[in-house]
Amino acid sequence: MSGLVGYIGRREAAEIMVDALKKLEYRGYDSAGVAVITGKDISCRKEIGIIRRLKDSLERNPITGTIGIGHTRWATHGKVSVENAHPQIAGNIAIVHNGIVDNYIELKEELLKEGVVFQSETDSEVIAHLINRELGNLEEAVAKALKKIQGVYALIVLSADDPEKLIAVAYGTRMVIGLGGGEYFVGSDTTAVAPYTKDVIFISDGERAVISREGVDIRNISGQRVTKKIERIGWNPVMMEKGGYRHYFIKEVCEQPRVIIDTLHNHIHGGEVDFAGLSLSDKDLAGITKIVLTGGGTSLNAAIVGKYLIEGIAGIPAEVESISELRFSPIKKLGGQLMVAISQSGETIDAVSCLRHGNAYGAKTIAITNTKYSTLEKEAGGNINISAGPEISVAPSKSFTGSIVSLYLLAIYLGIKRGTLSAEKSAEMIKNVAALPHKIEEAIDLEERMEQLSRIFYRNKGFLYIGRGINYPIALEGALKMKKLSYLYADGYIGGEIKHGPIALVDEDTPVVVLVPNDKYYRHTLADAEEIAARGGTVIAFATEGDTEIAKRFEHIIYLPQSDYYLNPILNSIPLQFLAYFVGLRRGCMVDLPRNLAKSVTVE
Ligand code: G6P
Repeated sequence: MSGLVGYIGRREAAEIMVDALKKLEYRGYDSAGVAVITGKDISCRKEIGIIRRLKDSLERNPITGTIGIGHTRWATHGKVSVENAHPQIAGNIAIVHNGIVDNYIELKEELLKEGVVFQSETDSEVIAHLINRELGNLEEAVAKALKKIQGVYALIVLSADDPEKLIAVAYGTRMVIGLGGGEYFVGSDTTAVAPYTKDVIFISDGERAVISREGVDIRNISGQRVTKKIERIGWNPVMMEKGGYRHYFIKEVCEQPRVIIDTLHNHIHGGEVDFAGLSLSDKDLAGITKIVLTGGGTSLNAAIVGKYLIEGIAGIPAEVESISELRFSPIKKLGGQLMVAISQSGETIDAVSCLRHGNAYGAKTIAITNTKYSTLEKEAGGNINISAGPEISVAPSKSFTGSIVSLYLLAIYLGIKRGTLSAEKSAEMIKNVAALPHKIEEAIDLEERMEQLSRIFYRNKGFLYIGRGINYPIALEGALKMKKLSYLYADGYIGGEIKHGPIALVDEDTPVVVLVPNDKYYRHTLADAEEIAARGGTVIAFATEGDTEIAKRFEHIIYLPQSDYYLNPILNSIPLQFLAYFVGLRRGCMVDLPRNLAKSVTVE
């Protein structure tokens, strides 16, 4: 899984592509490379590691030329090595590829029999050889080669024999083409082209774009010409900069009050939740028998919070299933169900597959995503945009809390529409959420306190997290964040479950973060914390301001503002994000680009 870029124009392609790749680094960063047309040849440069190393190499020894392709890799087939990095070359063809060639073993055997020599262990190299084998006409060669390939992919092709063009193809995923004046930018995502142009077109569903300085010619999978709508993207490039912060992660944590304000501004009108854009008729709304929430990683944890919100506020039974499981569900008839698919990027391939599964089997579908024009947004029956702005750090923060606020509003909307929530209660809940940005500011003021705690605990062997009710998924998210940012062992549990096993992990070297707000679980969670302390464990309690009882019991207490039960998870999330960040920083980890990960997983 990877990020792809391409450029054709008048400027130095390598320079533009390296900057564009930097914007896609969240899609993978184990190696990177570019290939540029230089006269009658293709010059290629590949480096292991983050894009900075490729940039340094190109600064030391530039490749000049105005047409090129580039790639940042997240290894799927073949270890991290220069040979396996992209572009992959066969003869006079260079390609960059994202996806998996499902039938690459049989294709490789076929090519080997023909005497083809492979330079890498990747499935992608097969595509380059297949195109090279079919040359003559480049467009025809690409079309013929792709007929043999099974799988979901995005691809950009460059040929030294036909050097005035790029061919971009997207099948089962999408690619964006940025339209500049006489120059064109190709990218896996709008973030790659946004610094250069706001006018873009998207290709998907097997569409092929032949891009030359004269323009873009797009054909569908059957070879017929298609006319695409030019879209205007909204994100401002400045939003993608660090703005004086040391890391994107910490910048994005601090942006959370603004994200909530924007989300409320977009969906609360005249004191009521407005989700007219969901395209659900009153009949649809009345007919919902169950809500299935799905997501992966942090979005899965948001989905679990969503279950508590929807059942608690709207009174509709809700289930949560991981995106990697749901699409294999044996239940084919989803009629009467509403599927809510959560994905920051809107491009996670498993999320897209789940949504398609839901659409195909009769569910109403809603996408909650942070990315306008994403595949998920495009294919869902209705959409809720998180309004978090670009999130660059691989570990999510603002999109997580933003998606929880969206789910909170969705639950209110469903409750009102189905008559299970009174207008008075809805008004009170809207008042509560309107007060949230200010409370988040207070939680952000805990930054220094969390930095101090990180100093005490960063050498420990790991962290445990517990919570009950709606704070259980926050315990999961706290642990996930800690794993990603610090590489320490961390896990989250339901408070009541620790005595059934996890308590065996408790020792003086494993602090336990206990989420113990003054909600209906308070006494029980306090008892969980006491049991941990009784076994020599160190408790870090996240409590509610004014809780004098807890102060008598534990040494490390983080006080958060008083809030509605349903909004408390958002407040708890903030110091958990700081803790993971500062522990990661002290341990010398690459907090914005944790090892082995990618922000958006576009392969299965
Ligand atoms: C990757 C990222 C996670 C993210 C997950 C889902 O694994 O590393 O941080 O939560 O994908 O991403 P999505 O864009 O679908 O929310």
